[in-house]
Order: sequence, then structure tokens, then C-alpha cells
Amino acid sequence: MNKQIWVIANWKNNKTIAEALSWVDVVGPKLSSSSKVKIVVCPTDIAIEGVKKAVMVGNYPMLVGSQDISAFDTGAYTGEEAARLLKDVVDLSILGHSERRENLGETDEMVAEKVMRAREANIIPLVCVQNENTPIPEGVNLVAYEPVFAIGSGNPDTPENAGSVAAKLKERYKDTEVLYGGSVTWENTEMFLAQPDINGLLIGKASLDPEGFLKIIEVACKGTYE
Ligand code: PGA
Repeated sequence: MNKQIWVIANWKNNKTIAEALSWVDVVGPKLSSSSKVKIVVCPTDIAIEGVKKAVMVGNYPMLVGSQDISAFDTGAYTGEEAARLLKDVVDLSILGHSERRENLGETDEMVAEKVMRAREANIIPLVCVQNENTPIPEGVNLVAYEPVFAIGSGNPDTPENAGSVAAKLKERYKDTEVLYGGSVTWENTEMFLAQPDINGLLIGKASLDPEGFLKIIEVACKGTYE
């Protein structure tokens, strides 16, 4: 049986609302509802609602995610966005990305709080781990292994090492799907997806250009990943 593949775009702090919508206009119509590849786009907060509407109007087979959620519930938390508010527009949240851990002091405890909030709101928590020792909170079934050296550097991990980290994570955390992220391009997509324990990709830079992202999806759709 072919494994299902996740292809997740993490736009980080990029794209105006207009740019986000034009990306959806290019990518959306080209997607076919293949049961094998699950596509998610994670825009900045300002663009999430517009992207969600465009995806729904076009009936495109694509989920929408956020790049974070608040560790707090709704209330007097200036600048925060609670899971309870985001759930109307997002299906998934990227949590514990190393850029947030490094630049904003996000801790494992905060990530655990965020996971709890996401689960309460029925948002899929996608937890980023930097290696096989990063703790994964309870109730998480989707994890992205993203070694810091590989992020945005053009220097990805080897598919073999990424596959072996994925296998270790799965051994420790049962029923977990593991994605790889860090300098993924269309050229290396097939090699990562060919690893039996890798269930998909989390893609930053290479997801920004819609044509480039489509190329990654094309490669992912063509493979026969057992
Ligand atoms: P990158 O980022 O693809 O630009 O390396 C991946 C990520 O940080 O999710």
C-alpha cells in the first residue's frame, strides 16, 4: 500500500495578502484530489483568512494552517491569537519551530501548552523537533524533524540520516507521522520521500514560488512510496 504524503508550505514572514492570493490562484487549480498527497499552506496571520476563503471558493484540495498559536486561551493577551479564534480558518498549526525557540524564547513547556490548546480546538498540532531528543507532548501525531543547520541554509540533512531520525522518533512515539524539513527543493524531494519512515515534507523557501511548489507536488505525486 502506498503511504500518504504530506506536503506543507511554511511561508514564514513572507507575502502580502495580494501575493498570497495570487499564489493560491496559481497552485489551487493545478491540484487534483489525489488521496496520496495532502497539501497544507501556512501563510502569515494577515493572509490566513483570505487564503482560506480562496481555497474554499475554488474548492481546492488544500488545507490551511497557521505558523503558531497562543499558549493562552482567549482574553487579555495583547498580540496573541488563541486556538479557539483560529479554528474557524485553520486546520493545522506549526508549533515549536526552531526559529520561534531561538528568536522568541519558546520553550518545550510553552510548546506543550500550545499543543493542548490546539487539541482542544481540533486543530492538528504539527510539532517541530530539532533532533530525536526534543520532547514531543502527548497527543501529537504529526512531527517535523528539522535540524537547525539545514533550515534555509541550502544544506539539507542526508535522506538516510533524516530517515533514521524519523525511525527513532516513531519507535519512541507510536502512531506518529514524521516529516522532514530543511532546505527541501524539488530536486531532493524524491530522495527524502523514498525513506520509508518519512511521511512528508515541511518546506520554507522553496514553497514561496508557486511554480516551484507545484514541481515539488508533481514529484511527490509521481513516486511510489511504500
Ligand atoms: P527551508 O525552511 O525550507 O527554507 O529550509 C524549512 C522550515 O523552516 O520549515
